[in-house]
Amino acid sequence: MSENIIYCYSGSGHCLSMAKDLARQLGDTDIVLMRSLPAKLDAREAKRVGFIFSCMAGGLPGDVESYVKKIQIAPDAYRFAVEQYAGYLGCGLRKIDEILRLDYWTGISNHSTAIWLMPHKLTFPPTSPEKAQTRIDKKVAEIAAAVRDGKRSEKRPPKMAPFELMSKGLGKTHAQRVKKFAANENCIGCGTCVQLCPRGNIRLEGGRPVFGQNCIGCLSCVQLCPKAAINIGKITEKRERFPSSRVTPAELCEKIIHID
Ligand SMILES: Cc1cc2nc3c(=O)[nH]c(=O)nc-3n(C[C@H](O)[C@H](O)[C@H](O)COP(=O)(O)O)c2cc1C
Repeated sequence: MSENIIYCYSGSGHCLSMAKDLARQLGDTDIVLMRSLPAKLDAREAKRVGFIFSCMAGGLPGDVESYVKKIQIAPDAYRFAVEQYAGYLGCGLRKIDEILRLDYWTGISNHSTAIWLMPHKLTFPPTSPEKAQTRIDKKVAEIAAAVRDGKRSEKRPPKMAPFELMSKGLGKTHAQRVKKFAANENCIGCGTCVQLCPRGNIRLEGGRPVFGQNCIGCLSCVQLCPKAAINIGKITEKRERFPSSRVTPAELCEKIIHID
């Protein structure tokens, strides 16, 4: 059993990259990927239990709330959470705090991976992907020091009630979007999308992906397709993808990544 466990949800790899970096700085860490039902729900032997996840539709990514409710943590374990977001913190940290009372929490912004909404470079204030990554790298060092020192946040994460409503509406708006997923002629039938889909919602038929209705909206298939062949209607056709360059599709498909 590892000293630290980080439960991570990552759609395009940025949170997983952050979790790997933090694990390297803390040492002896299991990163448990929450994309599909996490392989490890009993974390009672860990001294520190952390959560790193992206803000999606103002709240927690799909299924994360129900996973977190199932995780068992020792009463005296140190609990921390980090949220990555593009524009606003949303209500995700508060949701985790309500389930297991966090000792320490923080957030950091990145470019947006929601490329059906806007090009990822449209950030406010404007910043390059490189500068956003440098800021994240600095933040990881700060978080590692805080976690090692057992730092306690003075306040609970903000409630952000309007975002709670927004995240509840995700299912409906996403159901509409799901109908628009399609692969274009650049598709080589490699099956990366099939492996990446945490819901098993994509299958290959005649060497081409076919999308079902059970999409969670993580956008891994769109962002990590090696040929950028998957689109959501016309809107993403000309938009640059923004996956983390520090994470491979195979890593995103892992259940647990151990870092000494
Ligand atoms: C479906 C979807 C919804 C998102 N919703 C929000 C949001 O409501 N607010 C926000 O600030 N960022 C939002 N984002 C941006 C991500 O939180 C941000 O880009 C994050 O760095 C992605 O990390 P990941 O690659 O580990 O998933 C969204 C991204 C996706 C894919």
